[in-house]
Amino acid sequence: MKDAKRNAIWGMTGSGKSTLARELAADFSHVIALDPAGDWGLEPGWKAVTTIAQAEHAIAAGMAGGFKIAWRPTFSTGQALDALSRALMVVQEPYRLGHTDRKICLMIDEMAEAYSNSDQQRADREGFRQLILQGRHYGVEIVGISQRPQDVGARFRDNAQVTYCFALPYQNARQPIAQMIGKKADDLISLERGHYLRIEGAVVSHGETRQPGKAPASRPAPKTRPRAKTAAKKASADA
Ligand SMILES: Nc1ncnc2c1ncn2[C@@H]1O[C@H](COP(=O)(O)OP(=O)(O)OP(=O)(O)O)[C@@H](O)[C@H]1O
Ligand SMILES: [Mg+2]
Repeated sequence: MKDAKRNAIWGMTGSGKSTLARELAADFSHVIALDPAGDWGLEPGWKAVTTIAQAEHAIAAGMAGGFKIAWRPTFSTGQALDALSRALMVVQEPYRLGHTDRKICLMIDEMAEAYSNSDQQRADREGFRQLILQGRHYGVEIVGISQRPQDVGARFRDNAQVTYCFALPYQNARQPIAQMIGKKADDLISLERGHYLRIEGAVVSHGETRQPGKAPASRPAPKTRPRAKTAAKKASADA
Protein backbone atom coordinates (compact mmCIF):
# COMPACT_ATOMS: atom_id res chain seq x y z
CA MET A 1 0.00 0.00 0.00
CA LYS A 2 1.25 3.44 -0.91
CA ASP A 3 2.29 5.60 2.04
CA ALA A 4 0.71 8.98 2.74
CA LYS A 5 3.06 11.70 1.56
CA ARG A 6 3.77 15.37 2.04
CA ASN A 7 3.40 17.28 -1.22
CA ALA A 8 4.27 20.92 -1.86
CA ILE A 9 2.77 22.94 -4.72
CA TRP A 10 4.42 26.30 -5.37
CA GLY A 11 3.84 28.81 -8.14
CA MET A 12 2.80 32.37 -8.94
CA THR A 13 -0.85 33.32 -8.94
CA GLY A 14 -2.85 31.77 -11.78
CA SER A 15 -0.10 29.30 -12.69
CA GLY A 16 -2.13 26.11 -12.12
CA LYS A 17 -1.66 25.18 -8.44
CA SER A 18 -5.32 24.52 -7.65
CA THR A 19 -5.75 22.56 -10.87
CA LEU A 20 -2.94 20.22 -9.86
CA ALA A 21 -4.18 20.02 -6.26
CA ARG A 22 -7.54 18.86 -7.63
CA GLU A 23 -5.75 16.15 -9.64
CA LEU A 24 -3.83 14.95 -6.57
CA ALA A 25 -6.95 15.00 -4.38
CA ALA A 26 -8.85 12.91 -6.94
CA ASP A 27 -7.03 9.84 -5.57
CA PHE A 28 -8.76 10.31 -2.21
CA SER A 29 -12.37 9.77 -1.15
CA HIS A 30 -11.82 11.87 2.01
CA VAL A 31 -10.47 15.37 1.44
CA ILE A 32 -10.42 18.40 3.69
CA ALA A 33 -9.05 21.75 2.57
CA LEU A 34 -7.97 24.63 4.75
CA ASP A 35 -9.28 27.37 2.55
CA PRO A 36 -8.59 30.89 3.87
CA ALA A 37 -9.61 32.52 0.57
CA GLY A 38 -12.87 30.57 0.35
CA ASP A 39 -12.06 29.17 -3.13
CA TRP A 40 -12.58 25.48 -2.49
CA GLY A 41 -15.89 25.99 -0.72
CA LEU A 42 -17.35 27.30 -3.98
CA GLU A 43 -16.46 24.19 -5.96
CA PRO A 44 -19.31 21.84 -6.80
CA GLY A 45 -19.50 18.88 -4.43
CA TRP A 46 -17.61 20.60 -1.62
CA LYS A 47 -19.09 21.39 1.78
CA ALA A 48 -18.05 24.80 3.12
CA VAL A 49 -17.62 25.16 6.90
CA THR A 50 -16.33 27.99 9.09
CA THR A 51 -15.74 26.57 12.60
CA ILE A 52 -13.74 23.63 13.95
CA ALA A 53 -16.98 22.22 15.39
CA GLN A 54 -18.57 22.26 11.92
CA ALA A 55 -15.44 20.77 10.39
CA GLU A 56 -15.35 17.95 12.94
CA HIS A 57 -19.06 17.32 12.48
CA ALA A 58 -18.67 17.15 8.68
CA ILE A 59 -15.71 14.78 9.05
CA ALA A 60 -17.67 12.47 11.37
CA ALA A 61 -20.73 12.58 9.10
CA GLY A 62 -18.69 11.77 5.99
CA MET A 63 -16.36 9.17 7.46
CA ALA A 64 -18.27 6.19 6.09
CA GLY A 65 -19.06 7.50 2.61
CA GLY A 66 -16.37 10.08 1.92
CA PHE A 67 -16.22 13.88 2.07
CA LYS A 68 -14.91 17.03 0.47
CA ILE A 69 -14.82 19.72 3.13
CA ALA A 70 -13.54 23.27 2.70
CA TRP A 71 -12.86 25.06 5.97
CA ARG A 72 -12.60 28.82 5.76
CA PRO A 73 -11.61 29.72 9.32
CA THR A 74 -12.97 32.88 10.88
CA PHE A 75 -9.97 33.16 13.22
CA SER A 76 -6.21 32.67 12.83
CA THR A 77 -5.50 30.28 9.96
CA GLY A 78 -2.42 29.00 11.80
CA GLN A 79 -4.50 28.15 14.85
CA ALA A 80 -7.07 26.48 12.59
CA LEU A 81 -4.43 24.31 10.95
CA ASP A 82 -3.16 23.25 14.33
CA ALA A 83 -6.62 22.34 15.62
CA LEU A 84 -7.40 20.46 12.41
CA SER A 85 -4.12 18.54 12.58
CA ARG A 86 -4.93 17.34 16.09
CA ALA A 87 -8.48 16.41 15.08
CA LEU A 88 -7.23 14.40 12.08
CA MET A 89 -4.81 12.42 14.21
CA VAL A 90 -7.64 11.52 16.58
CA VAL A 91 -9.92 10.48 13.70
CA GLN A 92 -7.13 8.46 12.09
CA GLU A 93 -6.04 6.59 15.20
CA PRO A 94 -7.66 3.40 13.78
CA TYR A 95 -5.37 3.75 10.74
CA ARG A 96 -2.31 3.99 12.96
CA LEU A 97 -3.44 0.86 14.77
CA GLY A 98 -3.88 -0.96 11.46
CA HIS A 99 -7.66 -1.30 11.77
CA THR A 100 -8.43 0.56 8.53
CA ASP A 101 -6.58 1.68 5.41
CA ARG A 102 -8.81 4.70 4.82
CA LYS A 103 -6.62 7.75 4.22
CA ILE A 104 -7.44 11.44 4.39
CA CYS A 105 -6.00 14.14 2.16
CA LEU A 106 -5.38 17.49 3.88
CA MET A 107 -4.96 20.42 1.50
CA ILE A 108 -3.61 23.70 2.83
CA ASP A 109 -4.17 26.57 0.41
CA GLU A 110 -2.37 29.87 0.98
CA MET A 111 0.01 27.94 3.19
CA ALA A 112 2.18 30.95 4.05
CA GLU A 113 -0.87 32.20 6.00
CA ALA A 114 -1.23 28.96 7.96
CA TYR A 115 2.34 27.87 8.59
CA SER A 116 4.95 30.56 8.16
CA ASN A 117 8.54 30.47 9.29
CA SER A 118 7.45 32.29 12.48
CA ASP A 119 4.48 29.93 13.03
CA GLN A 120 6.81 26.97 13.09
CA GLN A 121 8.67 28.46 16.10
CA ARG A 122 5.50 28.61 18.19
CA ALA A 123 4.69 26.07 20.88
CA ASP A 124 0.98 26.31 19.96
CA ARG A 125 1.70 24.94 16.47
CA GLU A 126 2.77 21.57 17.83
CA GLY A 127 -0.27 19.82 16.30
CA PHE A 128 0.79 20.48 12.73
CA ARG A 129 4.42 19.78 13.58
CA GLN A 130 3.34 16.34 14.78
CA LEU A 131 1.31 15.83 11.62
CA ILE A 132 4.34 16.66 9.47
CA LEU A 133 6.41 14.14 11.40
CA GLN A 134 3.78 11.45 12.00
CA GLY A 135 1.13 12.00 9.29
CA ARG A 136 2.38 9.01 7.33
CA HIS A 137 1.50 6.71 10.24
CA TYR A 138 -1.96 8.23 10.43
CA GLY A 139 -2.64 7.96 6.70
CA VAL A 140 -2.88 11.72 6.30
CA GLU A 141 -1.57 12.93 2.93
CA ILE A 142 -0.65 16.62 3.04
CA VAL A 143 -0.80 18.98 0.06
CA GLY A 144 0.60 22.43 0.90
CA ILE A 145 0.01 25.22 -1.64
CA SER A 146 1.55 28.68 -1.85
CA GLN A 147 2.68 31.37 -4.23
CA ARG A 148 5.37 32.38 -1.70
CA PRO A 149 7.35 29.24 -0.87
CA GLN A 150 10.00 31.37 0.82
CA ASP A 151 7.43 32.35 3.46
CA VAL A 152 6.26 28.79 4.21
CA GLY A 153 7.82 27.16 7.27
CA ALA A 154 10.98 25.39 6.20
CA ARG A 155 10.03 22.45 8.41
CA PHE A 156 7.28 21.63 5.93
CA ARG A 157 9.04 22.86 2.78
CA ASP A 158 12.18 20.83 3.36
CA ASN A 159 10.24 17.73 4.43
CA ALA A 160 8.00 17.42 1.39
CA GLN A 161 8.69 14.16 -0.47
CA VAL A 162 7.38 15.65 -3.70
CA THR A 163 7.58 19.32 -4.69
CA TYR A 164 5.64 20.57 -7.70
CA CYS A 165 6.77 23.96 -8.86
CA PHE A 166 4.96 26.15 -11.39
CA ALA A 167 6.31 29.46 -12.70
CA LEU A 168 8.07 31.59 -10.08
CA PRO A 169 9.30 34.76 -11.78
CA TYR A 170 10.71 36.35 -8.62
CA GLN A 171 14.18 35.38 -7.54
CA ASN A 172 13.43 35.38 -3.79
CA ALA A 173 10.56 32.91 -4.35
CA ARG A 174 12.82 30.63 -6.41
CA GLN A 175 15.58 30.67 -3.83
CA PRO A 176 14.36 27.68 -1.76
CA ILE A 177 13.93 25.71 -4.98
CA ALA A 178 17.41 26.67 -6.17
CA GLN A 179 18.70 25.27 -2.88
CA MET A 180 17.19 21.93 -3.89
CA ILE A 181 17.97 21.73 -7.61
CA GLY A 182 20.52 24.47 -8.34
CA LYS A 183 20.53 26.11 -11.76
CA LYS A 184 17.58 24.01 -12.94
CA ALA A 185 15.42 26.37 -10.87
CA ASP A 186 16.01 29.00 -13.59
CA ASP A 187 13.49 27.07 -15.70
CA LEU A 188 10.83 28.40 -13.30
CA ILE A 189 11.30 31.95 -14.56
CA SER A 190 9.28 31.34 -17.68
CA LEU A 191 7.19 28.18 -17.33
CA GLU A 192 3.87 28.53 -19.13
CA ARG A 193 0.54 28.25 -17.33
CA GLY A 194 -0.15 24.66 -16.31
CA HIS A 195 3.49 23.58 -16.64
CA TYR A 196 5.54 22.54 -13.62
CA LEU A 197 8.76 20.95 -12.44
CA ARG A 198 8.25 17.88 -10.28
CA ILE A 199 11.02 17.33 -7.77
CA GLU A 200 11.32 14.06 -5.90
CA GLY A 201 14.66 13.50 -4.23
CA ALA A 202 17.29 14.04 -6.87
CA VAL A 203 14.88 13.46 -9.76
CA VAL A 204 13.50 16.52 -11.56
CA SER A 205 10.93 16.09 -14.32
CA HIS A 206 8.59 18.31 -16.32
CA GLY A 207 4.82 17.98 -16.11
CA GLU A 208 1.63 19.68 -17.24
CA THR A 209 -1.79 19.83 -15.63
CA ARG A 210 -4.76 18.43 -17.50
CA GLN A 211 -6.69 21.41 -18.76
CA PRO A 212 -10.12 21.37 -17.15
CA GLY A 213 -12.91 20.41 -19.50
CA LYS A 214 -10.50 19.39 -22.22
CA ALA A 215 -10.03 15.78 -23.31
CA PRO A 216 -6.47 14.50 -22.93
CA ALA A 217 -4.45 15.26 -26.06
CA SER A 218 -4.28 12.32 -28.47
CA ARG A 219 -0.58 12.85 -28.87
CA PRO A 220 1.71 13.96 -26.06
CA ALA A 221 2.51 17.65 -25.96
CA PRO A 222 6.09 18.42 -27.00
CA LYS A 223 8.29 18.74 -23.93
CA THR A 224 10.53 21.51 -25.16
CA ARG A 225 12.36 23.49 -22.53
CA PRO A 226 13.07 27.17 -22.96
CA ARG A 227 16.77 27.96 -22.97
CA ALA A 228 17.72 29.59 -19.70
CA LYS A 229 19.17 32.70 -21.39
CA THR A 230 16.03 33.36 -23.43
CA ALA A 231 13.91 32.77 -20.35
CA ALA A 232 15.93 35.21 -18.26
CA LYS A 233 15.67 37.86 -20.99
CA LYS A 234 11.89 37.36 -21.17
CA ALA A 235 11.53 37.70 -17.37
CA SER A 236 13.49 40.94 -17.25
CA ALA A 237 11.42 42.24 -20.18
CA ASP A 238 8.22 41.33 -18.26
CA ALA A 239 9.40 42.95 -15.02
N1 LIG B 1 -2.40 22.97 -18.55
C1 LIG B 1 -3.12 24.11 -18.62
N2 LIG B 1 -3.19 24.83 -19.76
C2 LIG B 1 -3.89 25.99 -19.83
N3 LIG B 1 -4.60 26.50 -18.81
C3 LIG B 1 -4.58 25.83 -17.64
C4 LIG B 1 -3.85 24.61 -17.49
N4 LIG B 1 -4.01 24.19 -16.21
C5 LIG B 1 -4.81 25.08 -15.61
N5 LIG B 1 -5.16 26.08 -16.45
C6 LIG B 1 -6.02 27.24 -16.17
O1 LIG B 1 -5.28 28.27 -15.56
C7 LIG B 1 -6.10 29.02 -14.67
C8 LIG B 1 -5.43 29.15 -13.31
O2 LIG B 1 -5.33 27.86 -12.73
P1 LIG B 1 -5.42 27.63 -11.16
O3 LIG B 1 -6.66 28.22 -10.60
O4 LIG B 1 -5.18 26.18 -10.94
O5 LIG B 1 -4.17 28.51 -10.69
P2 LIG B 1 -3.67 28.84 -9.22
O6 LIG B 1 -2.19 28.76 -9.27
O7 LIG B 1 -4.36 27.99 -8.22
O8 LIG B 1 -4.11 30.36 -9.06
P3 LIG B 1 -4.32 31.21 -7.69
O9 LIG B 1 -2.94 31.57 -7.20
O10 LIG B 1 -5.06 32.42 -8.15
O11 LIG B 1 -5.07 30.37 -6.72
C9 LIG B 1 -7.44 28.30 -14.60
O12 LIG B 1 -8.36 28.96 -15.43
C10 LIG B 1 -7.11 26.92 -15.15
O13 LIG B 1 -8.23 26.34 -15.76
MG1 LIG C 1 -5.54 28.45 -6.53
